Amino acid sequence: MSAIRYDPRALAAQTLASVVGGKSLRAAFAEVSTRLDDVRDRALLAALLYEGARWWLRFEVALDGMLERPLRERDGDIRALLVLGLVQLEILRMPVHAAVAATVEAARALRKPAFAGLVNALLRRWLREREMRNTELDRDAVTRTSHPRWLIDAIAVDWPEQAEAILAANNVPAPLWLRVNRRRIARADFAAQMAAAGMACRVPEAVPDALVLDSSLDVTSAPGYAQGLFSVQDGAAQQASTLLDLRAGQRVLDACAAPGGKSAHILETADVELTALDSDARRLPRLRENMRRLGLSAAVHAGDAADPGGWWDQRPFDRILIDAPCSATGIIRRQPDVKLHRRAADIPGLAAAQARLLDALWPLLARGGRLVYATCSVLEDENARQTEVLLARHSDARPVAPTLPWHVAGTGAQNLPGESDMDGFFYAIVDKGN
Ligand SMILES: C[S@@+](CC[C@H](N)C(=O)[O-])C[C@H]1O[C@@H](n2cnc3c(N)ncnc32)[C@H](O)[C@@H]1O
Repeated sequence: MSAIRYDPRALAAQTLASVVGGKSLRAAFAEVSTRLDDVRDRALLAALLYEGARWWLRFEVALDGMLERPLRERDGDIRALLVLGLVQLEILRMPVHAAVAATVEAARALRKPAFAGLVNALLRRWLREREMRNTELDRDAVTRTSHPRWLIDAIAVDWPEQAEAILAANNVPAPLWLRVNRRRIARADFAAQMAAAGMACRVPEAVPDALVLDSSLDVTSAPGYAQGLFSVQDGAAQQASTLLDLRAGQRVLDACAAPGGKSAHILETADVELTALDSDARRLPRLRENMRRLGLSAAVHAGDAADPGGWWDQRPFDRILIDAPCSATGIIRRQPDVKLHRRAADIPGLAAAQARLLDALWPLLARGGRLVYATCSVLEDENARQTEVLLARHSDARPVAPTLPWHVAGTGAQNLPGESDMDGFFYAIVDKGN
């Protein structure tokens, strides 16, 4: 076994380099975190990776301003290690000597001892010049907020008054929201069990099944996880089942269902007949596993929701949820790699896919039925504009304002990242006339 497996900084540097190269942060973290036995090392790895991705766009510029010669492409791990050195000093506020010494040591653990001197010299130079360099970085919005220019501009267009607050909220780690499985235990009883286990939770009045923890937690170790007493789900995502206005006996379609968070909440809420569909068959085993753990059951299909011929039995649905694939610009605080991976050019393609889903699924809704359209985006093109088009095309489509204390966005409602401690999320409700 190589030394790198035991050095969280070296492992973080290698992994962050792969995330910058295009790998999903969540998947990369899941893959490597099991290599560390010590829970403190795993927590350090998580902090380094998530803060490293969150602040990459600031500190890579800082680094380029200090390097005399650019690093070679094959030294992407050293580049990431240097960024992580700055993150430890500036964001995680670690004791200076320990952070510098451990980062230098990590260069050796990466089997690149020739870079130990550079790492040491560069971090010490930063410490001497940090004030001047931080001031310089704060002059430009990209390095001040650590967001790509296109996204700063897009947010400024759609949310001119809230833009600064959105960018700031995206840089603050999110609390952990749980959803209590009301079929198995009452929320108050579960909160008491958590408190007894030393994991005290807040009980948000406005979200009926939710509990909030300020510190993160390995959920699989919390009481009742294996017994299906709860799931992890942000408070904004927990609004879907309320907005669907579910009644026993209804036929419900969750058109973009994997990994099954909202499907499970629908089934915990009402005795409905649920079809859970997703076009990505690789994501369905996790959905099935979640259903099993929570004691729920649905008809699960792999298929393109925009091509019902392949999976629909011709019986209309009373409720349709379209939790559409989107830019994920509302959940950057949880998935900071969205800032590195998403491009302006992705948005028209996503908007076209969302329009296809709405167009194809509207005919499957029963008269008197309800369609709920949701995204975790903050961009109007993916949100209000989509349902506007649906409403303009169908004379039997009637908008219903979601009863949420959120921003009004067209006929829908928008929560912005961090508001009420929740993710950025959009909902629109469209009912079909009788
Ligand atoms: C936002 S995620 C859904 C999250 C899920 N509703 C939950 O709460 O756990 C969007 C999902 O849409 C799926 N998807 C994308 N295009 C689709 C299509 N044309 N038909 C069905 N599913 C699609 C993706 O595979 C992805 O799993």
